[in-house]
Amino acid sequence: MVPLKKLHTFGFETSARDLVEINTEADLFSIFDCVNTTDYYLLGEGSNSVFLEDYSGTIILNKLTGIDVQENSDEFNLSVASGESWHSLVEYTLSIGAFGFENLALIPGTVGAAPIQNIGAYGVEIEKFISSVEYYDIPKGCFNVLSHLNCAFAYRDSIFKHRLFNKAVITKVNFTLPKKNTVESSYAPLNQLDKPTPHDVFHKVIEVRREKLPNPKVLGNAGSFFKNPVVTNEILKKIEKHYNPVPHFRVSKTTVKIPAAWLIDQLGFKGKMYLGVKCHERQPLVLVNIGNGNGEGLLMLAREIKQDVYNTFAIELENEVRLVGNRGLISL
Ligand code: FAD
Ligand code: EPU
Repeated sequence: MVPLKKLHTFGFETSARDLVEINTEADLFSIFDCVNTTDYYLLGEGSNSVFLEDYSGTIILNKLTGIDVQENSDEFNLSVASGESWHSLVEYTLSIGAFGFENLALIPGTVGAAPIQNIGAYGVEIEKFISSVEYYDIPKGCFNVLSHLNCAFAYRDSIFKHRLFNKAVITKVNFTLPKKNTVESSYAPLNQLDKPTPHDVFHKVIEVRREKLPNPKVLGNAGSFFKNPVVTNEILKKIEKHYNPVPHFRVSKTTVKIPAAWLIDQLGFKGKMYLGVKCHERQPLVLVNIGNGNGEGLLMLAREIKQDVYNTFAIELENEVRLVGNRGLISL
């Protein structure tokens, strides 16, 4: 058995049957010759995956590294191996004067996982800079590439969560960073900065994230546990009859996004704890392992939050975090 505590940021004391590493792209052929096609979990840094109990399959751990940079008069083109650390890539691009990733500083995880949920923060989603994604097609046993348009990117979503779920190992992500990229500082609190440079944004984002989000090295967590729900104007109006004001961001003429943190906060969940898993006091959208937590506690708390939000607001919360049980992904 392989201990998983250090392989996922929630840090539950669980284990997996066995583990193989991908160190070169060629390893993928031999790995998928041996691994049972339904019996594996692809893992980067485990910052969006929680192993709730002992996992009966094989962990396939991504260790692919390498960054290639090409530059012309208009843009930087980067081809980055999927096992590279996302935040280190943000630091590296800033150091060579290639800008755009600064709003996404300090997001944990690998480069390869970034397109999967189209990571986003402080007014930028990574899809803005992705030109294509290269992957190993597991059923076909060959390499393939998807252009940006074919990745079906959306808020915390892409084709890799749907049609290509468990069928693709992302091997490289290709990015284009235009030299004329403008600094994105419209999102609070970046909008308080006076004519910020990309470096200013980078430092501010790090400062705010350190203030708001618990450090997984200190308190196990996987970031926002649920996605922010997108609801119709009618649902917003119904909620506004009882709560005013209701924070929201317009998505389309007929829909708005309501912060899940606000919904959970209204129901008084901050500080609530089951079996060592707690709703964080500063950011109730983040559930944390206080040290001795377990999967049962996490499921109890998450299910209660989901049910209470539904009963009170008629809104169905969807978990952002992947929950892995004994035989693979489970739903709430
Ligand atoms: P893992 O958890 O290892 O994997 C996530 C999913 O992707 C799994 O289903 C896995 O099977 C699959 N996968 C991983 N690698 C591959 C691959 N190469 N090919 C195919 N499938 C693969 N996210 C945001 O969007 N914005 C934030 O601001 C943000 N803040 C966070 C803050 C904290 C403190 C934490 C802990 C998490 C935060 N997250 C945020 C979530 C997380 O950092 C991202 O989802 C990240 O991209 C996950 O990377 P990972 O390598 O750790 O993924
Ligand atoms: N709020 C409360 N009570 C609180 C905290 C927040 O009511 O205690 C309300 C406030 O109205 C606040 C709003 O929630 O304005 C939003 O809070 P915050 O700015 O902390 O952002 P979030 O919506 O909780 C999202 C992303 C984060 C991302 C930040 C910054 C999702 C699910 N989460 O969080 O991403 O870093 O915005 O852009 O979209 C992640 O995906 O793991 C993640 C951390």
